[in-house]
Amino acid sequence: MRKMMVAGNWKMHGSRSSVMPLLASIKELVKSFTEVDIAVCPTFLHIGLVRDMLSDSSISLGAQNLHTGESGAYTGEVSAPMLVDYDCEYVLVGHSERRTIFNEDLTLVEQKFKSALDFGLKPIICIGETLAHRENKQTELVIKDQLDSIMQSVDIKLFDNVVIAYEPVWAIGTGLTATPEQAQDVHFFIRNYLAKYSIDVASTVRILYGGSVKANNAKSLFAMPDIDGALVGGASLDAKSFADICEAANL
Ligand code: PGA
Repeated sequence: MRKMMVAGNWKMHGSRSSVMPLLASIKELVKSFTEVDIAVCPTFLHIGLVRDMLSDSSISLGAQNLHTGESGAYTGEVSAPMLVDYDCEYVLVGHSERRTIFNEDLTLVEQKFKSALDFGLKPIICIGETLAHRENKQTELVIKDQLDSIMQSVDIKLFDNVVIAYEPVWAIGTGLTATPEQAQDVHFFIRNYLAKYSIDVASTVRILYGGSVKANNAKSLFAMPDIDGALVGGASLDAKSFADICEAANL
């Protein structure tokens, strides 16, 4: 059985004075939920603060990005061991905003993915197609490329620590959500495709859906057999909305 998971991606939002009450409310609202793994991914700058606030909570800490290397002359970058040092458990890798706005190509994403696993972080690897891909019926092709590039270089045994997030780019921050059936179709495809590498991984890996997940659509998405939770952007900045999504996953 795969345990449900909900991760909040706070993106480049928050200040010391907004992060503290947001997290305090989330902690309070989700404290009785035992059937869902919950994580929040603040900016690098807020990781220390969030870490301290989570010391008495079962909510996990995640980062939004990492550098490929361990340390060195890479001005402005943060490495996997630094995130581990701050008790991060998860790290988002290959979010579509990183792939498109910051030109992260398949090779760079794969190197970041590998570095996360090498240093003991659990990567939440984000994959998904653009609207143009979908309209040109290239969704599966794009997903295959994104999966192949990470699968080829990493020891399959490390996949216990991997979470996949299927995020159709056209649904992120747009208010457009894939219907539960559209999402399920792709999740099913991902799981089947992974079986080519390992049947065990295909059946155990968690595949989250991301893209305008809200309290009012979470339940129907989570009812799908291959959707194991959500990666939530906008709605994770509101404690009640985020907690309601967590509650829908607390099955
Ligand atoms: P959204 O973002 O929920 O605001 O669409 C999801 C994401 O980018 O992870």
